[in-house]
Amino acid sequence: MSMGNMEQKPSTIKSMFDSIAPSYDFLNRFLSLRRDVYWRKKLVASLAHNGSPPSSLLDVACGTCDVSIEAIRQYGPGLQVWGADFSWPMLKAGKNKISTGPGLSAINLVAADALLLPFHEEMFDTITIAFGIRNIADKPAALENFKRHLKSGGILAVLELTTPKKGLPKKIYLAYFKRILPVIGWIFSKNLAAYQYLPDSVLEFPTPEKFAEMMEHAGFARVTWEPLTLGIATLFIGQKK
Ligand SMILES: C[S@@+](CC[C@H](N)C(=O)[O-])C[C@H]1O[C@@H](n2cnc3c(N)ncnc32)[C@H](O)[C@@H]1O
Repeated sequence: MSMGNMEQKPSTIKSMFDSIAPSYDFLNRFLSLRRDVYWRKKLVASLAHNGSPPSSLLDVACGTCDVSIEAIRQYGPGLQVWGADFSWPMLKAGKNKISTGPGLSAINLVAADALLLPFHEEMFDTITIAFGIRNIADKPAALENFKRHLKSGGILAVLELTTPKKGLPKKIYLAYFKRILPVIGWIFSKNLAAYQYLPDSVLEFPTPEKFAEMMEHAGFARVTWEPLTLGIATLFIGQKK
């Protein structure tokens, strides 16, 4: 699939994240006006299922480990956390943060593709993926794979950037996203294609209704989705049957 100048091929996506890793955290906070921090907090808070906290968490496409770190903050170092990502420079940036934070040694990092996870089946009670699934062309295969690695009754939480439905928020969002954000991204990361790919990949992401259906088809039950910040992001939760 082609998006603007950037193809959604795993090797192209990987090189793109390799190249923007040093400025990734700064640009995330800046371009989202720190909404990304709030969205991840919501994601992690949603993992306490029926009042019980998660005990084993796999954070797929963990990038610089913000979800993994937030999980330890909310649930304590007793939680076993694994972060997996195919970009070494993103993992390295995450490793630097982990090595300086208290209690964060409970986080284990693995370089792996989301479609080829090097873990036993049914190993985790919780899997998260934040801002990662839209980069994976074969979403049904990824969802099937996550289900295989979840215990029965386990929780999958997907946080993704989405497009506000209509009206003024959509117009303002599109103007910012397509015209202003690529320029700011280019200034700080020197990678224009990456910050042109970002809006294109979000606009290509299925509607929340369609993505929730995909989760159901992959075998998740009780699928819910919650728009965050006028639908700029959406949090999807499903439970393995
Ligand atoms: C937008 S970043 C999100 C990082 C992190 N989850 C966060 O909340 O900031 C997307 C991440 O997905 C990773 N990624 C994309 N496709 C992947 C794949 N097929 N397998 C593993 N990681 C992938 C990239 O390397 C990148 O670190």
